[in-house]
Amino acid sequence: MNVDIGNALASVASPGVSRESLERLDEQVADAHERIERGMANAEHGYEALNLPERTDPDEIRAAVEPVADAEALVTVGIGGSALGAATITNALADESDTETVFLDNVDPEWVTQRLESLPLEETAINVVSRSGTTAETLANFLVVREAFESAGVDWTERTIVTTGESGPLRNLADRHDLPSLKVPDGVPGRFSALSAVGMVAAAVCGHDLEALLEGAAAERETLAGSLFECPAYAYGATTYALDARGAGINAVMPYAESLETQAEWFAQLWAESLGKDDLGQTPARALGVTDQHSQLQLYRAGPRDKLVSFVVPKERGDRSIPATDVEELAYLGDATLGELLEAEFEATEASLAAAGRPNVRVEIDRVDAYELGGLLYGMEAACVLAGELYGVNTFEQPAVEWAKKATRGLLGGGEFEEAEAVAEKTELR
Ligand code: PA5
Repeated sequence: MNVDIGNALASVASPGVSRESLERLDEQVADAHERIERGMANAEHGYEALNLPERTDPDEIRAAVEPVADAEALVTVGIGGSALGAATITNALADESDTETVFLDNVDPEWVTQRLESLPLEETAINVVSRSGTTAETLANFLVVREAFESAGVDWTERTIVTTGESGPLRNLADRHDLPSLKVPDGVPGRFSALSAVGMVAAAVCGHDLEALLEGAAAERETLAGSLFECPAYAYGATTYALDARGAGINAVMPYAESLETQAEWFAQLWAESLGKDDLGQTPARALGVTDQHSQLQLYRAGPRDKLVSFVVPKERGDRSIPATDVEELAYLGDATLGELLEAEFEATEASLAAAGRPNVRVEIDRVDAYELGGLLYGMEAACVLAGELYGVNTFEQPAVEWAKKATRGLLGGGEFEEAEAVAEKTELR
């Protein structure tokens, strides 16, 4: 991936960061890089995620999904980091696969029922993913999916792949039914696990090129260097950090490709759950080019100066011509393609923000394919790890998320948790 920070500089944007401040910040980037490399070399918790391009074994994943490789549809049951990486990959590459993908993360009963009813169960594979194996939403949805298969007379044990930790209720269940299973690698938090079995089982069932995903990520890993001026991932992480410190507390991620819409969702989780600690962190917002030019752009160009817009832009894409018309006022469209229109809209948006002095960063990939996507996911993860070092937070923990998970289980009688007692006390006070 390439990163262009020109429109984030103080000479053109407010808030903006001066070249001199970035040069000073670069000393911290060099230290952070050393820390990151050490963490990777020692396979420390979290940093190990940046070793996934070398650690993940595509053959092992393909072997596990072999029994369902011809499935017409795939339902992935998981939430947060156990769903968004897989959804990002399969949604981005959907035009390369005939397999229909459904992701059950939410437990909204009407939505779950509709999604299940839309699936040809006899031809559907089940991909259950939970690192802890205890997440209430995932386990509940899995039980619901199992029951739907049983009611339709379909043997779910023949069609299920489990990805989970070494032990826990989901691991026990997989063992009891002798289900094909994969292990979430040690030291890899959920939101950093897209390039492990967690994100790649779904890609394998859809027949995507796992090697290309990992090769793209490995190429991005090669760009990690002790200076933000030499490393695109660190340029992004350091610039967003510096802009946050200067008042851009909101980072609106705006991919210019419908297929990357889920990537913005994935990014929002990565950024929020990793950096939102100790009263620090930048709030991610999700937008989609060109659609949100007709809504959020007004705020981004003329609202409070508390935002950065991060464009994610493929340089090449498939195209389609716009048919000519004899309506004179529309004749200009007939000389263009939809791709040219989209490109013109992106350039106009980027330039209009720059003209209004609103900071924006362009993250470019060559095209949306497995190789480039692997690089983008890896690059954004490395950017996030770097930003975490600069903020001085523990990027790889998520105590607030864990608090809510325990409270939920406790409230439903799934164990004794002080978090659940705190909720009960609070509701009694109302
Ligand atoms: O990034 C994280 O750690 C979280 O978003 C988890 O992935 C999410 O809570 C799901 O957890 P689990 O995989 O244990 O079911």
